[in-house]
Order: sequence, then C-alpha cells, then structure tokens
Amino acid sequence: MRLIIDTDTAGDDCFSLLLAMKTPGVTLEAVTICNGNVDFDQQAENALATIEAAGLSGQVPVYLGARKPLLAEWEPAQMHGADGMSGANLPRARQRPEDQHAVDALIERIMAAPGEIEMIAQAPLTNLALAVTKEPRIAKALKHLWIMGGTDNSVGNVTPCAEFNFYVDPEAAEIVFRAGFDITVSTWTLTMRASTFDADQLARLDALETPLSEFYRKVSDTPRKVALERYGRVICTHPDTLTCACAIDPSIIRAARPAVVRIETAGKITRGFSAMHPAKLGARWPEYHDNARIIEDADNTAFFAMLERAFSA
Ligand code: BDR
Ligand code: CA
Repeated sequence: MRLIIDTDTAGDDCFSLLLAMKTPGVTLEAVTICNGNVDFDQQAENALATIEAAGLSGQVPVYLGARKPLLAEWEPAQMHGADGMSGANLPRARQRPEDQHAVDALIERIMAAPGEIEMIAQAPLTNLALAVTKEPRIAKALKHLWIMGGTDNSVGNVTPCAEFNFYVDPEAAEIVFRAGFDITVSTWTLTMRASTFDADQLARLDALETPLSEFYRKVSDTPRKVALERYGRVICTHPDTLTCACAIDPSIIRAARPAVVRIETAGKITRGFSAMHPAKLGARWPEYHDNARIIEDADNTAFFAMLERAFSA
C-alpha cells in the first residue's frame, strides 16, 4: 500500500505515523504538515522525531503546508500539552523538512501515480483543499482518501456540534467534500465507540518495553492524566490511529454506510458541524451525491493488536 499522511502532528497523530511506518506492506511515501493541534513548526519537529523514533530518518520526506486555515482565525489548542507530545522532550531529529511546499508535493506525487496512492487526512483539511483547488484532477487520481473528522451524531469534542479537524477549517472541509474524492470518514463518534484503550490495554502496551512502546507511553502521558482527572480512570483515545488502522486493514471496519456529507461554514452555534445524511436522502444536494462512506463501527480488539504488533518491532 502506498500512503501519504497529512497531519497536525501531536499525540495520537504520531501513533498513526508509527503504525503506517511499522506495518509490513505499507510504504509511507510522504508526510505533509497542516495547521491544527499545536504550533506549526513544533508539529513538523514532532513528525520528524516520530520518523526518527521509527528508525526511518531520511526515508520519509516531510513537507510543510498551510500554516493557517483558509478563512478562520485559529490559535493552536495545545490539547496534547504545549509541545503536543506530553512534554516528552525528544531529541531534535536529524532529518529536516523538504523545501517544496506540501500542497505542491501532494499534487506532484498524486498526479505521478494515478490510482495508486491512498491518503490519510488526520488534520484540518487546509492542505488538501488548496491542493485540489490548484489541481482538481488529484480528486480522481488519488486512489482513496481516509478522513478523520466530523461527528456522526452532532456531539463534538470542541463545541457541542463540531469535531476539532472540521471546526478549525470548515471552509476547507467543505471544499474537499465537494471535490470528487473517493472518501471514507472516520468520525469523532467512531473514535468514542472503538478507539479507546482501557487501563489493561495501556498496561499491555507499556509492558512491551520496546523503544516504540516507551515512545508511546511518554507521548500519551497528558491524555492519560487528563482522562484520570476527568473520568476517574486512565484511558486513551486514538482518533487518527484508528483511521490509519482502518485504511491499512479495512477488515477491522465492522459497519459503514454511504452518505452525503456537507460541512456547516456559517452557523453561529453549528460552525464546523458535519451533516451526514443517508445517501438516498441527499437528492436535494445532487452535487454531493454519495460523496462519502462513514465508518460506523470498528473492531477495537483487532485495532489494539495492530498497534501491539507495530510497537513490538
Ligand atoms: C482530531 O483532533 C486532533 O486533536 C486529533 O489529532 C485528531 O486529528 C480529533 O478531533
Ligand atoms: Ca490530528
């Protein structure tokens, strides 16, 4: 499988990169950095440090993309600690970002291999919206686009109605859903249903005592502590990593449905909300007809086993 990951690298984004880099049969061909979780340059450093931790320094190019959403004002949320890595204090990676802009790298790489490359978009969709606006043919040239974003029930993680990635740049998300890509969406709703590891699962990962399980333990420290404060128990959710797992091994998807997806760009209360209609009701919006497949459920045990294998390497 040939893969590109677009990421606002912090916390869970890193584990998705690791899963892609450490699963046999997957070639992570490029990483593109988008505005989102924390300071933009810090996100690039986090991606480079993750590549180094995987032992692939110099082998996975990292491209810098859009530093801001298309229209929205956005200050990084620092949900994963100020560095996005739970203060893991990782050594500065030897590899440096490429000179080419991420948007141009995406276009060049996708157009050079029509029908061969799949992409995981696990950040706000600014880079992809710019790329498909500059070169609309990438929508059909990309084999498949796996998007982490939105909610399937309107219960968001940033506002009551909106999930983070679509909330940060709803205009970009709306452009991407209109562009004609072959899209599967892994929502925040799915994250809550299938991506959480409980204390026993986390203990099993920690007990691997490999360099990658140690990396995981350090970088997931803040979300674990936040969960303990909020819910009284240690858990960790993995929205981006589950999206990557579904892309790598779609057999872990237990249920999915076709849908018509539109993103609210104007609402005072609902900005960033994802309307995910059953496809047959989408006839009112013909230009969006069947523009996505929504994952409704995934196998948490199989997902965990994929990460356990990856971190054992
Ligand atoms: C998304 O927001 C980010 O904080 C995570 O990396 C994930 O991509 C979840 O809403
Ligand atoms: Ca992310």
